[in-house]
Amino acid sequence: MTAVLQIAIDGPAASGKTTVARLLAQRLGVVYVDTGAMYRALAFAALQTQTDVDNESALVRLFDQQIHASLAGEAQLARVFWKGAELTQDELESPVVTAVVSIVAAHPLVREAMVREQRRIAAEGAVVMAGRDIGTVVLPGAPCKIFLTASVAARVGRRRVQLEKAGVDVSAHELTQEIEERDRLDETRKISPLRKAPDAHVIDSSELTAEQVVDEICSIVG
Ligand code: CDP
Repeated sequence: MTAVLQIAIDGPAASGKTTVARLLAQRLGVVYVDTGAMYRALAFAALQTQTDVDNESALVRLFDQQIHASLAGEAQLARVFWKGAELTQDELESPVVTAVVSIVAAHPLVREAMVREQRRIAAEGAVVMAGRDIGTVVLPGAPCKIFLTASVAARVGRRRVQLEKAGVDVSAHELTQEIEERDRLDETRKISPLRKAPDAHVIDSSELTAEQVVDEICSIVG
C-alpha cells in the first residue's frame, strides 16, 4: 500500500503559510485545506449572531449547526460555509474577525470539533493542510511536516501589503501589536498550542519568496 501524501504546514501568524500551502497544493495537484479559515468562519459566525466568544458550548453548537467545510465544487480547495453560503476572503480576514479568532480557537471543545472535521477532509485523499496544530495534533502521522517561520518585521510587512490591497490601512505599529498578541495567545494556550512537531523541518521565510519556499518543500518531499 502506498502512503497517502499529507503535508502539514504550521507556523505563527502571517508567516506565509496560506500563500505557500496554496501554491504547493497547486504544484502537486492535491487539495489545500486552510484550517485557519475554519476558525475564522466560526469567529465570523459568532460576531454575526452575537454569540459570546467566551461561551464554549454556544460556539460548539454554532459550529455543528451552521459551519461547514467542503471539497465539493472545486477540486483543489476546501471551502467554508456559514448557513450554506460560502464565506469570502474579505469576510474571513476582516480585522474584527482577526481580533477575536484566537479567543475562539483556545476553547478545547471548539478545537475537538474542528480537528474531527479536518481529519474527515484529510481522509478523502492527498492533502496540504496549513494551521497551528496540524503536525502535532491533527495529522501527527503526516510524512512531511513543515514549520514555517519569519521575523516579526517580515510578517508585518507582508500583512500590510495584503491589507493595503484590500483597501484597509493599518499602521505597522498596530500590526506588530496584533501579530505579537496573536502569537502570544496561540503559543500559550493550554490545548494544542502552536509548537513545532519534533520531526518538522523548519523553514525561515523572512528572506525567501513563496516560490522559493515551495521549491524547498518540494525538495524535502522528494
Ligand atoms: O493570520 P494567519 O493567516 O496567520 O492565521 P490563520 O491561519 O488564518 O489562523 C487564524 C487563527 O486561528 C490563529 O491565530 C489561531 O488562533 C487559530 N488557528 C488555530 O488555533 N489552529 C489552527 N490549526 C489554525 C488556526
